[in-house]
Amino acid sequence: MRVVIEKLNKKFKDHQVLKDVSLEVNDHEVVVVMGESGCGKTTLLRCLCDLEQPDAGKISLDDWVVYGGQSKLSRQERQRYHRLIGMVLQNYQLFPHRTVLENCCEAPVYQKLMNKQEAMVKARELLSQLNLLDQADQYPHTLSGGQKQRVAIARACMLQPEVLCFDEPTSALDANTIEQLYPLIDSLKEKMAVVIITHDEAFAKKVGTRVVRMHDINPLDEK
Ligand SMILES: Nc1ncnc2c1ncn2[C@@H]1O[C@H](COP(=O)(O)OP(=O)(O)O)[C@@H](O)[C@H]1O
Ligand SMILES: [Mg+2]
Repeated sequence: MRVVIEKLNKKFKDHQVLKDVSLEVNDHEVVVVMGESGCGKTTLLRCLCDLEQPDAGKISLDDWVVYGGQSKLSRQERQRYHRLIGMVLQNYQLFPHRTVLENCCEAPVYQKLMNKQEAMVKARELLSQLNLLDQADQYPHTLSGGQKQRVAIARACMLQPEVLCFDEPTSALDANTIEQLYPLIDSLKEKMAVVIITHDEAFAKKVGTRVVRMHDINPLDEK
């Protein structure tokens, strides 16, 4: 699926963060967006994932205008939008009182995309791919940072998104664990478009099929 962001603007009260920001991400691309802290990277990703309402501009998924079109999306359309695009948040946001397996199964079962049995099978398959099957019945607080990051990725993949966004996936990881993300992200791009925000140059070079600098797309970022 191709994502096109055109001239996106976002203000928080009178603080403008994004000005006419445009970005395209094609299927099988891993686009890495880099920039200094505070330049609006997370805000851009949150707008793309419908967690934040932009003030102006346009966002399309293939030919479907999900923001900036003539009419507002219906409830069903928004659900479809949220299924197409997944986000792995910076601080994982795993449910603390649910096991790894339950963390993975919660959303697809709640959204009635699969029954519990199907979700468990799919989750085990993903956890196995991510080398996490032994932790399936553990709670998040018993996991290392790298394991939590991988659970968050497995959970996002349960919904089989066409676009997957990562906010600073390496920020809490040591060098060894970061290495484990390379093949994983490589395998994701076979199936989807990937957007990654980071300020880690080495990581960006390694995983990105294209690196975009925030100061090149957002005139408000002058660093
Ligand atoms: N919900 C919010 N309310 C007010 N200001 C915000 C909010 N979210 C982000 N900002 C501000 O917008 C700017 C960009 O933030 P952010 O997108 O998180 O930057 P980055 O991810 O590049 O570090 C910062 O100055 C931040 O304080
Ligand atoms: Mg951020």
